[in-house]
Amino acid sequence: MPQLLLLEGLRRVDPATPLLRADDLGVLRGESVFETLRIAAGRPAFLAAHLARLAVSADRLDLALPQGWEELALMACDGVDEGVLRLVCAKGPPPLGFALVTDIPADAVRGRTFGVPAVTLTLGVTAAQRAEAPYLLGGVKSTSYAVNMATLRHARTLGAEEAIWMSSDGEVLEAPTATVALIVDGVLVTPPTSVGILAGTTLGAVLALDRVPCDVRRVTAHELQTADEVMLLSSVRGVAPVVSLDGRELGVGPVTADLRDAFEASLIS
Ligand SMILES: Cc1ncc(COP(=O)(O)O)c(C=O)c1O
Repeated sequence: MPQLLLLEGLRRVDPATPLLRADDLGVLRGESVFETLRIAAGRPAFLAAHLARLAVSADRLDLALPQGWEELALMACDGVDEGVLRLVCAKGPPPLGFALVTDIPADAVRGRTFGVPAVTLTLGVTAAQRAEAPYLLGGVKSTSYAVNMATLRHARTLGAEEAIWMSSDGEVLEAPTATVALIVDGVLVTPPTSVGILAGTTLGAVLALDRVPCDVRRVTAHELQTADEVMLLSSVRGVAPVVSLDGRELGVGPVTADLRDAFEASLIS
């Protein structure tokens, strides 16, 4: 079912159409920005939040983001009940924007339903460093995701499916493609964006459901390792329980399961 639409001229093209020039900085230097959204009930979920973040990412890469993303996203979802929508803008010059619609991968549904085993891995920076050094691009959703993908491959060599990045001074950061949250004594605890992590739209949407008290604060490795429940939040997978962490069995916790189910219901209501 892949579908491809171009921002320029708001038009659908054959998904096999070659788009990017060989000298595009998005290709040569990884200087593209992107957003991945869930299409649910025929709509791009939390579109405004994703578009706001796309603009922030573009600004941080000094990428002149063209207009028309909302129209492009709505057009891309036309006639699609469920799916994944990627909005991508390569730096060019000139910048080139497109939307790609694909099916929801089976492993996303499996992860949300049955949970994922995870390991902690260092990102090699202190918790403060990515915010203090803006050129490290903490909190930017660029297509320079080779480190993120390599982290996930490394996690797989350790028998896990997911990784939780830790700072070199022992704090919880994020996962390579998800926000991390813990349940401690019934409170959802999650690190602040000031540790250089992406502002998760799924976290924002889950918190807006107001089902659990929340504490956004820096989180230590000890708190992570002794948490009652751990979950990963991201647009396509939704709320995925971490069923084991560094070999410690956690299972699917009741608060995580409630948040997951409430979030899924909110997407189709
Ligand atoms: C590094 C990183 N952190 C967090 C997230 C979660 O963001 P969202 O909930 O907006 O999908 C993602 C999503 O891909 C991500 O790549």
